[in-house]
Amino acid sequence: MANKMSTAVPKSILVVDDDESILDMTEDLLTEAGFEVTKCGSGTEALSLADDRDWDVVLSDLQMPETNGLELLAAMRERRPDTPVILMTAFGTIQSAVQAMRGGALDFVTKPFQADELLVSLERAFERRVLEEENRRLRRAVARVSSFGELVGKSQAMNEIYAMIKKVGANRSNILISGESGTGKEVVARSIHFTGARASKPFIPINCTAMPEGLLESELFGHVRGAFTGAHANKKGLFEAAEGGTLFLDEIGDMPLSLQGKLLRVLQDREVRPVGGTHSTKIDVRIVAATNQDVHRAIEDGQFRQDLYYRLNVIQIRIPPLRERTEDIPVLAESFLRKHSDDLRVRFSDAALRKLSRGVWPGNARELENCVERALALTGSSEILANDILIPEDPATGDGSIEEMLIRIALEKRLTVRRLTDAYVDAVLEASNGSKSEAARILGVNRRTLYRRKERRVADNEREAAIAQ
Ligand SMILES: Nc1ncnc2c1ncn2[C@@H]1O[C@H](COP(=O)(O)OP(=O)(O)OP(=O)(O)O)[C@@H](O)[C@H]1O
Ligand SMILES: [Mg+2]
Repeated sequence: MANKMSTAVPKSILVVDDDESILDMTEDLLTEAGFEVTKCGSGTEALSLADDRDWDVVLSDLQMPETNGLELLAAMRERRPDTPVILMTAFGTIQSAVQAMRGGALDFVTKPFQADELLVSLERAFERRVLEEENRRLRRAVARVSSFGELVGKSQAMNEIYAMIKKVGANRSNILISGESGTGKEVVARSIHFTGARASKPFIPINCTAMPEGLLESELFGHVRGAFTGAHANKKGLFEAAEGGTLFLDEIGDMPLSLQGKLLRVLQDREVRPVGGTHSTKIDVRIVAATNQDVHRAIEDGQFRQDLYYRLNVIQIRIPPLRERTEDIPVLAESFLRKHSDDLRVRFSDAALRKLSRGVWPGNARELENCVERALALTGSSEILANDILIPEDPATGDGSIEEMLIRIALEKRLTVRRLTDAYVDAVLEASNGSKSEAARILGVNRRTLYRRKERRVADNEREAAIAQ
């Protein structure tokens, strides 16, 4: 694993020292050794850099004005607990070395240091980091295997689904899973099968939309030789192939009506008769069906048989769309990242995660997964930044009618220009976490304009208060 890592992206180091000559010297030494080096002259600056990206190791001087090495260390433990910090101490200050180690530094080197000494210490730090990530990945994998397959999510809705999966694992009642496209109906179906009592038997998925009726029928129930043109031999159907296991009928709402009748009979009698055959075979198969349609509407429209619905719907699992469980977005994104990248160092920046969490996902988890895959392809380093995330646009804003929408609301509420702009400026300031320069950039004005606006508002408020009295 360590070898694989070293060939991927050069390891990155943030070097922090208020002494420029030490910075330059360390940079030369480390660049020479093949590392990607970022220099930084103060602990305060280092912390603000670390807000936006991640380094494999932070190498910092101990004595610095403002934020010293120990304070930087403490703040890093808090913000980026996985980033190893190595402190450089002046020769002979055992006391501070002890403090450094107590504070959670991975190591310390005494200045002036030998090149070898520093490189050995760094190598150890990298190994440690790889090991820790590997451990975390293994723990995650173990947790996954032992609980609900590939399924992740920590929302209340997902917890209820886990509880349901646990409950139904031992019995064989039919299940109907409903949810919008991409919400994870198939993963839930797999999880029911592979964590339940039937796990050692087959799980067979079939999509009811994908095939013409005749073919679907013979696929499901099998056929005997000569049943139709081209039926040269007897063929077992999927019901028999899934014996003892689970048959996953995807897009059940698209199953033609006549076939629905035949399926209902199979479910009632627990036996199948192949197309053109005269004998039935007993079967023991659990049906998990899925639909992204409104089955009730389909029943009302006469497109879906109510009796079949009741047969299938012994247990119902509804997977809410992602917009109703946004707290699952970061966990899902993380799991997609691990699924699509072998490089254990790759991670999301905080800003990237925030952007994902705020996104609209009409295509649900599948769309989020595609987005993460794209971001992985776009990112040039081991950290995925907000810019790498190409968020699918909100249809409300994407079609260019956003201005119209705003004008409509403003007209309805009879908003003054000032109220409208003030509200917008406030919203942008809040979205920029109070950063005036960021807000100014988004608004397309300079910072001074923002300050002036604030002064004006204070004055206006005072005047209004005076008038009111
Ligand atoms: N809770 C989840 N945990 C992990 N992965 C998920 C989860 N939900 C969805 N996914 C992933 O998202 C993708 C889409 O999921 P899936 O195919 O199960 O959706 P679906 O509901 O069957 O969609 P469709 O209706 O379009 O067939 C898959 O790659 C799946 O692994
Ligand atoms: Mg599906």
